[in-house]
Amino acid sequence: MLRTNLNSAGPKTMKHQIVGGLAALPILAMLGTSAAFADSAGVNFSEGRTFSEQSGEELYTHVCAACHMGNGQGAIGAGHYPALANNENLLSAGYPTYIVLHGQKGMPPFGDMMSDDQVAAVVNYVRTHFGNDYQDAATAQDVKDSR
Ligand code: HEC
Repeated sequence: MLRTNLNSAGPKTMKHQIVGGLAALPILAMLGTSAAFADSAGVNFSEGRTFSEQSGEELYTHVCAACHMGNGQGAIGAGHYPALANNENLLSAGYPTYIVLHGQKGMPPFGDMMSDDQVAAVVNYVRTHFGNDYQDAATAQDVKDSR
């Protein structure tokens, strides 16, 4: 069951998009437009290189849930996606903020695709949902300082 979910909605889809992006590189290099390069090489989850979603819930659903699953329960299948539900590693807002910005191993970095407000929103969302109850919200300034 989990395997099916992962295969249809998860990292495989992303991999295809990345591979597609790389295949297009020579053409883009010929065009010589660095903006097109950045857009194409970026991971396209929703609307291009930057996300239009503003609320933590929307960002979570459209970006994070592909790997961490709808209820933050994570998954083990094609890869290991840690649960965010009941996760004591979220105690300090700085840790998830840093990981969302810079990525870590199998987790892609989102710093270039989200504004400070968006990162704060999604970090605050996961820290107050899925059994987590950390009320000391991260601010946009905290995110900026962590970039
Ligand atoms: C492409 C899959 C993928 C996506 C999308 C993704 N993550 Fe992750 N995430 C991972 C993986 C894999 C790890 C484990 C990284 C490691 O091994 O250190 C991880 C780790 C984490 C951790 C650390 C958990 C811990 O206990 O140490 C947090 C927090 C996290 N992700 C939050 C998010 C948030 C918030 C989003 C959405 C903005 C997101 N992730 C999107 C794959 C993903």
